[in-house]
Amino acid sequence: MTTITLEHISKRFGSDQLTNDPAITAVDDVSLKLNTGDVLAILGPSGCGKSTLLRMIAGIHKPDSGRILYDDVDLRDVPLRERGIGMVFQEGALIPHWESRKSVGFFLSLRQREEEVPEKLHQIAKITGIGLDKLLERRPAQLSGGEKQRIGIARALARDLQVLLFDEPFANLDAKYRTEARIELKRLLNAFPVTSVYVTHDQVEAIALSHRIAIMRAGKIEQVGTYQQLYSSPNNIFVASFIGSPPINLFNGRSENGHWQGENFGGFALRRDLPEGMLVTAAIRAEHMHLEEGGIPGVVEQAIPMLAERHQLVIVHLAGETWTLTAPLEPYIERGSTIYCGLQKDELLFFDTKTGVRIG
Ligand SMILES: Nc1ncnc2c1ncn2[C@@H]1O[C@H](COP(=O)(O)OP(=O)(O)OP(=O)(O)O)[C@@H](O)[C@H]1O
Ligand SMILES: [Mg+2]
Repeated sequence: MTTITLEHISKRFGSDQLTNDPAITAVDDVSLKLNTGDVLAILGPSGCGKSTLLRMIAGIHKPDSGRILYDDVDLRDVPLRERGIGMVFQEGALIPHWESRKSVGFFLSLRQREEEVPEKLHQIAKITGIGLDKLLERRPAQLSGGEKQRIGIARALARDLQVLLFDEPFANLDAKYRTEARIELKRLLNAFPVTSVYVTHDQVEAIALSHRIAIMRAGKIEQVGTYQQLYSSPNNIFVASFIGSPPINLFNGRSENGHWQGENFGGFALRRDLPEGMLVTAAIRAEHMHLEEGGIPGVVEQAIPMLAERHQLVIVHLAGETWTLTAPLEPYIERGSTIYCGLQKDELLFFDTKTGVRIG
């Protein structure tokens, strides 16, 4: 078992003289600690440096500065074959002409531990269900993207790994298959507790698989925490807006007399030490805004029934601002009608509009 420590690691890619592209900092001063058995999801927009960070953890890219420690030893001093790292990519990266069984057992065969392979495979097949056993007889060309993925993961697990890295392994699967694959992987991670890092675009996947989530933006980690921590206590507007669906409602405003005053409503108590007139953004999630007689008026743009959640999401606008609230499924809410909204004051978050940093 392995702990992984990232100490101030950065990675830049050089400027391109042909295209005149300037140098970019793909990963910018990231520090992070993963305990043995942790599953950490890395979530962030396209191009924010997730794959680059993962490749550095795998030792494929060397950081330009900073260090990566595996159990207190600098990764540079651990020979490749002793690192015990498995990486699963989107396409599974299998050896094309081999039967999957051979591919899965390759590592053990190579080390003259062939006799361990059947038992190991049996164990993995038992956990993943019957599916894997059948797949093992086929070559990659005979497998679908999702099936390759399972073999890829099984192969990684058959190798006595201590660290498992995933780069959007299920990105190509359709929704139903994705859910199944996710449940299977969760079972495997429980049965073979390895330290894992899981890169994804998908919040639902991140919540389902990981213990903690790191939110990345432009090479930096903005916040690390459980989904609940990120959801209810974001450090800044970016994290607040990135996490949750529908996106959190944002309202422009300023501090007046120790209170937040917005364009359409206000009067909520703020921290006392803020300068008068400072620009402050108030944020509240749709689930904390409801219909309320005599509340803030809004003109209905759209009402979206959320049958599973047993409510509808109502998007309203007023004087240039748009927000979303939740309402009971009945009665029907007509587009263009005016409704009145109330909010749970203690769920309001406040941010410095200029820096995005949370201030209340
Ligand atoms: N080998 C490379 N050479 C030059 N630039 C690169 C290289 N690899 C990545 N980059 C750049 O570094 C930044 C981060 O890329 P990276 O692949 O880590 O992003 P990502 O978060 O994984 O994105 P996606 O979600 O689209 O996979 C991007 O701006 C990308 O263009
Ligand atoms: Mg990527």
